[in-house]
Amino acid sequence: MPIRSTVILGTGSYAPERVLTNGELSHTVDTSDEWIRTRSGIRERRIAAPDEATSDMAVQAARRALEDARLAAADIDLLVVATMTPDLPMPAVACIIQQKLGVRTAAACFDLNAACSGFVYALDTACAMIASGRYQKALVIGVEKLSTIVDWQDRTTCVLFGDGAGAAVIGASSEPGIGLIGTRLGASGDSVDLLYISHGGSSAPSTAESIAARAHCMRMKGKEVFKQAVRVMDDAAREILEQHQLHADQISHVIPHQANLRIIEAISQYLELPMDRFFVNVDRYGNTSAASIPIALDEARRAGRIKPGDLTLLVAFGAGLTYGSALIRW
Ligand code: UT7
Repeated sequence: MPIRSTVILGTGSYAPERVLTNGELSHTVDTSDEWIRTRSGIRERRIAAPDEATSDMAVQAARRALEDARLAAADIDLLVVATMTPDLPMPAVACIIQQKLGVRTAAACFDLNAACSGFVYALDTACAMIASGRYQKALVIGVEKLSTIVDWQDRTTCVLFGDGAGAAVIGASSEPGIGLIGTRLGASGDSVDLLYISHGGSSAPSTAESIAARAHCMRMKGKEVFKQAVRVMDDAAREILEQHQLHADQISHVIPHQANLRIIEAISQYLELPMDRFFVNVDRYGNTSAASIPIALDEARRAGRIKPGDLTLLVAFGAGLTYGSALIRW
């Protein structure tokens, strides 16, 4: 079957109503607004309501993306959801979203877990499936309810994360050289111990003791993750530019994974690209993992920052460690 160009037809995002400020967190753990702001750039994050599941947030973002693309859920024949916080261990949250959103029964629906790089992995997967000609319209969602896997007594992690969802609708185009023009995905499994959840999986199912010890929550070696993040994001950005014989200066805007403002500033320095080319919203949402890039992409588009002909670079890293970059020509 012919390989076709794949384009983003619409985007949408959703953030839960509840805003949790740094000031509020300083009443529950030994931290301060000043520490969180200067070390991470985060001022506040959103927290999903107890009865608001990952699928509910995903459906909100997906509806907005479909509306933006002027398509209906029934037009979708492929649904890929990047998340590490699905509603349930099984079935895939993609199937729950399919049912809530009204995506047709025959559509292919599955989850994918590449932690914070999940959206870039899901975008590449969906675009390859559309490019093959076997699928026509895909919905790609990055969504997380990280508040359920954060240890709210651990000040080294709980101040960094938030909940949210972002989505993109993908279709084919006969015009060459537009849409997703390239991706670079990778992983280094020798760093699995930098960011992980030790219990609740097949190697160590949850027990009453593990839950009491909050071993079902995220643990992170923050300093080491920071160093690796800067290195792999810089590499992922450089490699994709080299592959496409482009210079960093030709990038109109970078949509980086929103984990820490200092990581984004370091990438800006390494690539010698001014910060005004980087879209930043980590101050308002914290790190929403797989949702971070699609929320930022949607906000950048809705703010009118992306024009036809622009070149956008997405660049992410996450637990695994996974990393990925993608180039989009609008
Ligand atoms: O998507 C991937 C997700 N992860 C990341 O992107 C995380 C990457 N890492 C980071 O963003 C940074 O390493 C952090 C923001 C997590 C930490 O910043 P840092 O500058 O690397 O601080 P640090 O870990 O070296 O901690 C400095 C001090 C320590 O105290 P001592 O040992 O110097 O006395 C920490 O115990 O800050 C202390 N600390 C805190 N103090 C107030 C750690 N967390 C907090 C806190 N409030 N929330």
